Amino acid sequence: MIHTENLTKSYKSGLMSKTFVLRRVSLDIDAGEFVTIQGPSGAGKSTLLHILGLLDAPSDGEYDFLGEPAHEMDENRRTELHREHIGFVFQAYHLIDDLTVYENLETPLLYSGLSSSERQSKVAEMLDRFGIVAKKKLFPSQLSGGQQQLVGVARALIIEPKLILADEPTGNLQSDQSEEIMETFQRLNEKDDVTIVQVTHSEKQASYGTRVVRLEDGRVTEDGPAPERPAPDLEVQA
Ligand SMILES: Nc1ncnc2c1ncn2[C@@H]1O[C@H](COP(=O)(O)OP(=O)(O)OP(=O)(O)O)[C@@H](O)[C@H]1O
Ligand SMILES: [Mg+2]
Repeated sequence: MIHTENLTKSYKSGLMSKTFVLRRVSLDIDAGEFVTIQGPSGAGKSTLLHILGLLDAPSDGEYDFLGEPAHEMDENRRTELHREHIGFVFQAYHLIDDLTVYENLETPLLYSGLSSSERQSKVAEMLDRFGIVAKKKLFPSQLSGGQQQLVGVARALIIEPKLILADEPTGNLQSDQSEEIMETFQRLNEKDDVTIVQVTHSEKQASYGTRVVRLEDGRVTEDGPAPERPAPDLEVQA
């Protein structure tokens, strides 16, 4: 599904100099995998996810998405593929400020050719699934960080994407909500064969996946199986 070769991203940092954020990243992710990307702050995790999500272009190297050379595509084609196949959960939510929760959830469906009543029922299902029915008429600024994050996750899932890219999807959630998101991801991955790439610092969350890729200073430094799931916590039982 994802194949990169010597993927490089750099920014101009002076008249003559460049800062390299991704350095020759070569990565293959098959359909059906559940991959966690870990690494220190500034390592390039979000940058990589944005490129894999067709939201940004590499400076150099190759990226094939579903067998198509994304590094050769223009922005319109990238956007089209993104809308059709990819559910993206942003690190900083990226909700549209002047749309309500309901309208934010409906937005990705506007390009899907669904009728208005079909859209309505999908939005209703998501609101219900994420426990945010009561918030549907509120604007993002009227929500807590965790609630905005839930809306961001719901919005990513609503098109039933083939690929979910999630940048710290549970960073602002309480642990029971985090677990629910992770269980949702796992279910989508195991039952519906959705490919998932998540960025997280949490070992526990990495254990829901099957593989961990470590990124340091723009380079892949480790690539191996996910850690074992820790035994359920028996200490705190309400
Ligand atoms: N538009 C830009 N121009 C210049 N430098 C940039 C730009 N975007 C990102 N960077 C730099 O790229 C590096 C990697 O950023 P990135 O957001 O990918 O890190 P990250 O691994 O996601 O970190 P975090 O864990 O803090 O989210 C940072 O040093 C950042 O300053
Ligand atoms: Mg980041």
